[in-house]
Amino acid sequence: MIIGLLIILAYLIGSIPSGLIIGKAFYNIDIREHGSGNLGGTNTFRVLGKKAGFAVTISDILKGTIATVLPLIVALIWNIDVDINPLVIGVFAVIGHMYPVFAGFKGGKAVATSAGILLGHEPLLFLIIIAIFFITLYLSKYVSLSSMIAGIAGLIYSLILWDDKLLILILAILTIFVVYRHRANIKRIINKTEPKVSWL
Ligand code: G3P
Repeated sequence: MIIGLLIILAYLIGSIPSGLIIGKAFYNIDIREHGSGNLGGTNTFRVLGKKAGFAVTISDILKGTIATVLPLIVALIWNIDVDINPLVIGVFAVIGHMYPVFAGFKGGKAVATSAGILLGHEPLLFLIIIAIFFITLYLSKYVSLSSMIAGIAGLIYSLILWDDKLLILILAILTIFVVYRHRANIKRIINKTEPKVSWL
């Protein structure tokens, strides 16, 4: 019962469309109608600038982090033992972020919210993938490629260094989500039409 409620709550938290809310509230713009059409931090940076881009990225990261610490919060407040790996709950926030009930099921590409899960549960791995992301971004100037490489590198890291099969499985699922949601970006990278960041 409690696990089902946590899953629904995580999905609803993930469904909060930060990009849509910030775009509409402060700029009267639906970012899904501009740039790449994606409801994520990168497209918000592209369409609305640094301030909005940071706000959306941080909000999207926090959705994953909050969902992942939900079982701990429940355990602390109500003294209930929630017998589930918090990462599993976090995955439902990522599903909400990709297919948000509050935004016509047209959401983001799983990157920031997946990173938020790691921030909440594996902060060292979070720092490692952030470092890999920025190194790849510096070298390639592609946010999409850097997101995918960071996800894949995180999975390889866990495969080499960890024995926890559930943890590895969850990282594999998150990496599949990230790569799958970047299908259009992969085509654009191959066709050399993917936009590069200009500020690095
Ligand atoms: O996090 C999404 C990013 O990797 C790509 O976004 O807008 O360039 O498709 P976008």
